[in-house]
Amino acid sequence: MTDMPAIAATDATRAIAKILLPMAAGGAIARRPTMMRMVDRLNLDAGAIDEMRRLRSKYGPGPVQITPGRRLALVLDPDDVHHILNNTPEPFRPDTKEKRGALEHFQPEGVLISTPEERLKRRPLNEAALQTRQPVHDHAATMSAAIEAETEALLGHVDFAGGLSWRPFAIAWWRMVRQITLGASARDDTATTDGLLRLRQDANTSYLKPTRKKLRARVLASIQDYVERAEPGSLAQMVATVPAEPGVERHQQVPQWLFAFDAAAWATMRALALVSNSPEVVTQLREELAGADQGRPDLPYSRAVILESLRLFSTTPLVLRETTTETEWASGTLPPQSSLVIFAPFFHRDPDHLAEADSFAPELWMRERTDADWPLVPFSGGPGMCPGRNVVLMVSSLVLSRLVSGHDFSGREFPAQRIPPSLDPFSLRFRATRRA
Ligand code: HEM
Repeated sequence: MTDMPAIAATDATRAIAKILLPMAAGGAIARRPTMMRMVDRLNLDAGAIDEMRRLRSKYGPGPVQITPGRRLALVLDPDDVHHILNNTPEPFRPDTKEKRGALEHFQPEGVLISTPEERLKRRPLNEAALQTRQPVHDHAATMSAAIEAETEALLGHVDFAGGLSWRPFAIAWWRMVRQITLGASARDDTATTDGLLRLRQDANTSYLKPTRKKLRARVLASIQDYVERAEPGSLAQMVATVPAEPGVERHQQVPQWLFAFDAAAWATMRALALVSNSPEVVTQLREELAGADQGRPDLPYSRAVILESLRLFSTTPLVLRETTTETEWASGTLPPQSSLVIFAPFFHRDPDHLAEADSFAPELWMRERTDADWPLVPFSGGPGMCPGRNVVLMVSSLVLSRLVSGHDFSGREFPAQRIPPSLDPFSLRFRATRRA
């Protein structure tokens, strides 16, 4: 098999400008709201998806290599997506050079940037603490109580203001997340989450900015305190008490959880925008919540709505892998240490393979999906798949259902069959009225 050739320089430049640069500009680790607004206004997500389609029709399904020096190839074929994700961490390791450079700013011993050997110890700890395979976490009652208290307070504000915008939503969200993750006493500990945010902002530039070692030590020490305190019903208690191999830094797994709850906030706010255009969906959400066990809320339909928000508006648009050995593809071989880029929005909205491509269709998620299906990978897939997905879906679905159960929301209007390619969560605004 021949070495994979780089594509024409003009196509490579277009691919970098239209697909990779807008993603980097939006902020890979901490979103930049002004850039997100611009990405939305200029329709850059749609441009990136179109560019991927153009590349596939010009070069065929094999990955296309866009940088000749250090190899970087864009994946275009659904079978390649499944193959790469299912064969993580070898020969496709998730701890790519770019990710290590970025995440070392705030979690040098986190699972996502572990070597394949370190991963063997850290991944099981994450799965045990987050109860990856359980739709409803054992700490659901405590989580649900925090969600109820904070959404009630938020809805009080909504009644007073006559609507909802990003800022009050984000304040309530982070109060909830700190309680769920670190413990009840962390509700107002903005110093820890703001410190983490500053480190994440540095992480956007990967290696280019030196790490603020003092701030990192302070944030990690604060998280470690919460883990040692192990407040009942928190994820900190889980990570402190589940079995783990000797030498695993338990508290160092937690920054990723806090960081990733940001994406869940955008997904929830966007889901609210989607459902506020679909009254029949709101009716189903209300009925489901009314019939649920409030102590262990399992809301499959509401979870499907959140998954649909994540399909239509990816919060992790780029899933990256680095090869550990030579690998073979329809378009040629790649040497070890080549980067592979899965651009999820391209697969999530492909009209040639998904009748619902640009429609809001929660029912897509109401059945088990397999590798025979077209890849929809909001949480990635295979052994590296997000271990927090069930916690995220539980928290976000409950927040969404609680918000809409007693209020009618209206905001940006769009037809449910033609969902816009981008939806900047920071500029969303809703009018709201309490139901009689
Ligand atoms: C909407 C919210 C979220 C989305 C869309 C999401 C998605 C993802 C994706 C795509 C990955 C990368 C997997 C890969 O490289 O193949 C990932 C990794 C991870 N996520 Fe999430 N995530 C979310 C929230 C969370 C939350 C709230 C937690 C914890 C409470 C969490 C825990 C993790 C961990 C620990 C990893 C690293 C897994 C590993 O490398 O083995 N995520 N997530």
